[in-house]
Amino acid sequence: MAENLKENIDLSQYPHINKGLEGIIAFSSQKSFIDGQEGKLIYSGYTIETLAEHATFEEVCFLLWNNRLPNSSELQELNEKMQTSRELPEPLLTYLKNTSKTAEPMSVLRTAVSMLADFHKVDDKSEDKFHENIAISITAKIPTIIAAFDRSRNDKNIVAPLSEHSTAYNFLYMLNNEEPGEQAEKTMDICLILHAEHGMNASTFTNRAICSTESDMYSSVTGAIGSLKGPLHGGANQQVMNMLIDIDEQDADPVEYVKERLAGKEKIMGFGHRVYKTMDPRARILRGMSEQLSKETGHETLYEWSEAILKTMKDEIGIDPNVDFFSATVYYSMGIKPDLFTCIFAMSRITGWTGHYIEQAKNNRLVRPRALYIGEKDLNWVPIEER
Ligand code: CMC
Repeated sequence: MAENLKENIDLSQYPHINKGLEGIIAFSSQKSFIDGQEGKLIYSGYTIETLAEHATFEEVCFLLWNNRLPNSSELQELNEKMQTSRELPEPLLTYLKNTSKTAEPMSVLRTAVSMLADFHKVDDKSEDKFHENIAISITAKIPTIIAAFDRSRNDKNIVAPLSEHSTAYNFLYMLNNEEPGEQAEKTMDICLILHAEHGMNASTFTNRAICSTESDMYSSVTGAIGSLKGPLHGGANQQVMNMLIDIDEQDADPVEYVKERLAGKEKIMGFGHRVYKTMDPRARILRGMSEQLSKETGHETLYEWSEAILKTMKDEIGIDPNVDFFSATVYYSMGIKPDLFTCIFAMSRITGWTGHYIEQAKNNRLVRPRALYIGEKDLNWVPIEER
């Protein structure tokens, strides 16, 4: 940043000018731990591998809201609450049916979540589960919003949510208007678990900063969705798929394609991470899922290209894939459209955001960093006709 500074600024007055807040610890949290050197991720005590193998998404929701796993009656209660909270208010359905069919799904999701606040019946704020109940309500409705918009923009009937089955099952059912098989439900469930929480990423930081002003949970989630949408964050998974589609359409060699872009100083989406200096552990899990699914669904070439790109990135610039790289081919193999990929990320990350909101609200301090002013300080007023 030195090139942006005026020469007369005394940097020694400013102990921490940290572009991108890299390495800054702004909060304490029990939600997740990332070991960027070893490539480890832990949600409230459990490794991501353990959760992907044994947990359901709903158990992970409970874990991130309560910092512990539920017992069977708590899980049943949560499942029932989620299942009965899936329906959308009629005016929101009207919006989803009438908004532009070419709108970006993440923009529609952002607006829809913001609208949900208008229909929220204000409960007793002192109630123990006040924030968790809002978190449940938003988490339950996001899949309905995404599926309803996608069907509506394709001139298909909107499928009402079921008041049974898991979040993963219900989402696939509403999206496709057919009951998903066990394998598809399990794959979606694991994807939701893998994307649920990830330390102080940009959207979680946005969410905690909004919470710190004592604003409501709908506002913090709306802001977080806006932050997740960017291609440097959650929007990367869609860009990964666009790249693979582009390679296909151009009949290009994936290795040469990537080398050309690196030579032009372009970033390859789905690679690199602020914290991981090795392969993201979620990418390791998704890599196996991508291999299996792409073979089963006749998209093997996409998987082979992904492996070739991964090797080229490692050989050329030593950078490993992140969660977005293989999730793209997993979703694509499941028949999901690329512009819904980031919405599925949001459908899962809502749990981490709201878990952090609950944590921040319990031990709040306004988030208010400072900026180093590098502008002029002593200009004389010039009348408009003389400028
Ligand atoms: N392709 C090519 N070069 C890269 C990439 C990439 N994907 N990522 C980092 N680099 C290079 C970068 O150009 C820079 O090189 P130099 O030092 O020569 O200027 C160096 O590596 C350091 O990169 P940086 O952008 O300063 O590092 P950062 O910590 O600010 O960036 C990142 C992290 C995720 C923004 C970046 O790796 C990136 O833009 N990746 C592509 C987008 C992406 O996949 N995002 C998803 C992130 S993981 C999921 C999520 O949290 O949403």
